[in-house]
Amino acid sequence: MNALHADAVYPPSDETVARAHVTAAKYQEMYDASLTDPEGFWGEQGKRIDWIKPFTQVKDVNYDFGNVSINWYSDGTLNVSANCIDRHLENRCDQTAIIWEPDSPEEPAQHITYKELHRRTCRMANILVSMGVRKGDRVVIYLPMIPEAAYAMLACARIGAIHSIVFAGFSPDALAARVNGCDAKVVITADEAPRGGRKTALKSNADAALLHTKDSVKCLVVKRTGGQTTWVDGRDFDYNEMALEADDYCAPAEMNAEDPLFILYTSGSTGQPKGVVHTSGGYLAYAAMTHEITFDYHDGDIYWCTADVGWVTGHSYIVYGPLANGATTLMFEGVPTYPDASRFWQVCQKHKVNQFYTAPTALRALMGQGNEWVEKCDLSDLKVLGTVGEPINPEAWNWYNEVVGKGKCPIVDTWWQTETGGHLMTPLPGAHAMKPGAAMKPFFGIQPVVLDPTSGGEIEGNGVEGVLCIKDSWPGQMRTVWGDHERFEKTYFSDYKGYYFTGDGCRRDEDGDYWITGRVDDVINVSGHRMGTAEVESALVAHTAVAEAAVVGYPHEIKGQGIYCYVTLMNDRDPSDELLKELRTWVRTEIGPIASPDVIQWAPGLPKTRSGKIMRRILRKIAENDFGSLGDTSTLADPSVVDDLIANRANKG
Ligand code: WT7
Repeated sequence: MNALHADAVYPPSDETVARAHVTAAKYQEMYDASLTDPEGFWGEQGKRIDWIKPFTQVKDVNYDFGNVSINWYSDGTLNVSANCIDRHLENRCDQTAIIWEPDSPEEPAQHITYKELHRRTCRMANILVSMGVRKGDRVVIYLPMIPEAAYAMLACARIGAIHSIVFAGFSPDALAARVNGCDAKVVITADEAPRGGRKTALKSNADAALLHTKDSVKCLVVKRTGGQTTWVDGRDFDYNEMALEADDYCAPAEMNAEDPLFILYTSGSTGQPKGVVHTSGGYLAYAAMTHEITFDYHDGDIYWCTADVGWVTGHSYIVYGPLANGATTLMFEGVPTYPDASRFWQVCQKHKVNQFYTAPTALRALMGQGNEWVEKCDLSDLKVLGTVGEPINPEAWNWYNEVVGKGKCPIVDTWWQTETGGHLMTPLPGAHAMKPGAAMKPFFGIQPVVLDPTSGGEIEGNGVEGVLCIKDSWPGQMRTVWGDHERFEKTYFSDYKGYYFTGDGCRRDEDGDYWITGRVDDVINVSGHRMGTAEVESALVAHTAVAEAAVVGYPHEIKGQGIYCYVTLMNDRDPSDELLKELRTWVRTEIGPIASPDVIQWAPGLPKTRSGKIMRRILRKIAENDFGSLGDTSTLADPSVVDDLIANRANKG
């Protein structure tokens, strides 16, 4: 690591400050106002939205455990799709809303205007209505990164249906669990998903999933490649054919600000993913505001977020935030390294991208391929760079800054979560200096507190570290766990009473700037994707050969964290390379390729306390190759298992 750079502070350039929506003085003034008069501040920000019936109440929030309830703009009514499309038709009908860049550079890109987006969304909405979807019904979207994914989201919003997107990399089992979890009426999928030159058979995954759902669930199929699919008459509907017939207009439904807009399943520290619920008014206002201010988006800019719509980043920062702002948002179907390692930069050059937002894992992978892939492209239109999903290491930060940004683009390191709907901490271009790896400053209205994990008390002052909680609410906050409000309260409001508990650790440095230090629970972060270790464990023990499993994260050069599994086999089974491969494939099929174990170590025994609790702290240390600081092992039921695990520690790689 370059120590000089790691401690460096990068103030924004004069040019960045000159064009910024928010300068240092403005930030301070707005931040202060957001805390002293939240009603006034958020009441004003609520005007970013076109309301059908304007709100008179701004905020109605209770963080008391047992009575948690979060409401914003709750007597207002609106339609989210009308806010993302219709209201722009007067001045922007021929402006490009979505630039779609397909997996293969040989295939032409599409420029979808706001007028076209309106037509496509209305048709999709009418198709859903004709399939029986009504206000409040759930629709699962299982699509590649194609424009139809955006049409589908907006079509649901238009008719008041609640969408739940399942990342196309998830397995049939994971898809079925989510369809059943929210009792969806319709699953929208495509024949195949091209990615990196390979195709995933999405429709056959959906077919497999639908064997495990109610018979009444219908399937709407978008043609992407024209690949072969099996068809179940009465259950499967042909989108492309129906779109030819569908009406070009569908009236937007009047929705309450607190009506759910979407459910997004995310991993927690228990085996079952939870359905994070976001509602309409507050979420949209917050996504729009953060999109504009964090990326310093200006009219006419071309903005690109490389995430997938299957994650919250794609919801807030490919679709809802940018479109609410009347922006031009780029949607990319492919991967950074196909056909070669210059693809991201080729796309930036081709579409003259001004704001570019990606994940540290992609940067680390590209950094390893050498600078020439970047240097051969013209990146002179870039103004702001962003990262999200995991802490960025100073090496990757410096490479991003120097090689991609040529030292002239501020980097916004945005810390947030599926639960938060939008950015909670980030340096703002033009307002804050940057430190490589630091989330720096809270967004407006956000009050981060560092708590002592033992006493639960607030740690005041600077140069401190602890558990990160947030005092008070913001409009983009999740409202509940779908179908399980108790779980919502227990997960986020019970450990530290009166605060929202983030699950992250955090350091406030000597200057009062914030650094995220990683999860403090049993959640690991693999390539910016959140994974509950318990989920991988339950997949492993579902295999007949496995008696017990414990899963921890360990540092991985590209992925940030890798998945390290300790597996105890049934008495009648013996370890073998074959079984190892089988277990790896098994987990991929149970959850999806993103959950692929990086390391499986055979463990004749696991370190347990006398009461039978697995000591993960020890397993983490062994996985990290850090045997010197195992701590106290004397409370273990059988301390000798630790020696065995160390002696047989699997070879990473
Ligand atoms: C967890 C949330 C937010 C969209 C993508 C991930 C980690 C996220 C950062 C960052 C350090 C980060 C946290 C957080 N995380 N952004 N800039 N620096 N860590 O959403 O799947 O809900 O995961 O990702 O640990 O809690 P998610």
